Amino acid sequence: MQEFTKFPTKTGRRSLSRSISQSSTDSYSSAASYTDSSDDEVSPREKQQTNSKGSSNFCVKNIKQAEFGRREIEIAEQDMSALISLRKRAQGEKPLAGAKIVGCTHITAQTAVLIETLCALGAQCRWSACNIYSTQNEVAAALAEAGVAVFAWKGESEDDFWWCIDRCVNVDGWQANMILDDGGDLTHWVYKKYPNVFKKIRGIVEESVTGVHRLYQLSKAGKLCVPAMNVNDSVTKQKFDNLYCCRESILDGLKRTTDVMFGGKQVVVCGYGEVGKGCCAALKALGAIVYVTEIDPICALQACMDGFRVVKLSEVIRQVDVVITCTGNKNVVTREHLDRMKNSCIVCNMGHSNTEIDVTSLRTPELTWERVRSQVDHVIWPDGKRVVLLAEGRLLNLSCSTVPTFVLSITATTQALALIELYNAPEGRYKQDVYLLPKKMDEYVASLHLPSFDAHLTELTDDQAKYLGLNKNGPFKPNYYRY
Ligand SMILES: NC(=O)c1ccc[n+]([C@@H]2O[C@H](COP(=O)([O-])OP(=O)(O)OC[C@H]3O[C@@H](n4cnc5c(N)ncnc54)[C@H](O)[C@@H]3O)[C@@H](O)[C@H]2O)c1
Repeated sequence: MQEFTKFPTKTGRRSLSRSISQSSTDSYSSAASYTDSSDDEVSPREKQQTNSKGSSNFCVKNIKQAEFGRREIEIAEQDMSALISLRKRAQGEKPLAGAKIVGCTHITAQTAVLIETLCALGAQCRWSACNIYSTQNEVAAALAEAGVAVFAWKGESEDDFWWCIDRCVNVDGWQANMILDDGGDLTHWVYKKYPNVFKKIRGIVEESVTGVHRLYQLSKAGKLCVPAMNVNDSVTKQKFDNLYCCRESILDGLKRTTDVMFGGKQVVVCGYGEVGKGCCAALKALGAIVYVTEIDPICALQACMDGFRVVKLSEVIRQVDVVITCTGNKNVVTREHLDRMKNSCIVCNMGHSNTEIDVTSLRTPELTWERVRSQVDHVIWPDGKRVVLLAEGRLLNLSCSTVPTFVLSITATTQALALIELYNAPEGRYKQDVYLLPKKMDEYVASLHLPSFDAHLTELTDDQAKYLGLNKNGPFKPNYYRY
């Protein structure tokens, strides 16, 4: 309850007509973070802080935590060897020399490795957080100590959130020429407040579903005035973040919040896309009895071939112990389903939006809500039945568990390559439109994460390579039909 109430209320002055996006309130929680918003009640905006070199070009919770943050970054670097190897390969060449990148992403140990890579490749960076809860304060301090202009802390108010973004964009004598965004809030701010900045911007790299959606809307309306790279839909993101990351983090999120044992439990997973496939595989491996609901016959058939029973939600809703939504759709679990669930049924969402479960329909006078743990609510019916609702229907893994560093490394490497590509592209290669990362880059990201792959290629005889259409001495050529 304490943790719940210390979250800031969104009462800050609204500088824009829209509120901060859903993605800016879903957070990657960090088990490693030892700081929280209650360790010092003075707002960082009121504090005068300088790093050891005398610079005060940052605003973080407490610069004194820099040493601890540095250790967190070093731990993250160990499972981000691809990004580090990109840093080593390219730092002589400095492909981002002259780039002035304004960024708005989660500020965690893993994104710090990305930011420091961009700096090593020649860029100047100014950074704010795309989420008011997810900043690792000690990591932000370490970045500030290393000279990055970072404006972020855990537990920002909405007003702080926009203030931090503004401090990154609106600077005397410094103008951004690249944007790296996660959720689209930074891009939106620049459009609304500083449209002239776009005269110098060479491109936007966007990572999230929400942000990409906004970019396509801008493009459709003819208002996108620079090229943008959609990292969200790149093969490396779809396969690794959606599939493998969810395969690992679904169990983590459920275990941390409920201590549930999965062996023999009946679980229904709604949606058998990338996220659903990952969740089902993990649950099956632990001995759960898994049902799948689908609307797409191909995905339904895949679920069937993978050994899952494809059902209608209404058929199994009375008997299941856990319900997980992964559809990207809305109102998949309705009040009617919730009314029919059995006592202690756990309900959670792994899809992007918090509308997959109709949580609003549970806010009625006859139902009692009891917060039993951080991110865990018991919703109690008049007859005493309890439904266990996790993270109020927001993304379970981003709200309640950590995300594997290796997966974040793949996304971060993709973002770095997208920035390099847009920054160095010759005039005319990209127009004012939204682009997917060129396939070659997806291949490069994958091969960087698989240093032993060359060894497999050398095992091929020349004859075999020719038969498969592979060039043993050229770049790795994947079989796209496998995707
Ligand atoms: N939790 C995470 O870490 C994470 C990571 C990546 C993506 N996501 C989000 O998860 C969601 C799913 O992503 P994906 O890559 O699996 O998408 P996808 O399009 O591959 O899969 C979604 C599936 O849900 C099915 N579906 C749609 N409506 C349905 C309904 N009413 N009932 C049953 N099935 C239905 C679709 O037919 C589709 O097969 C998206 O919102 C995405 O943004 C979450």
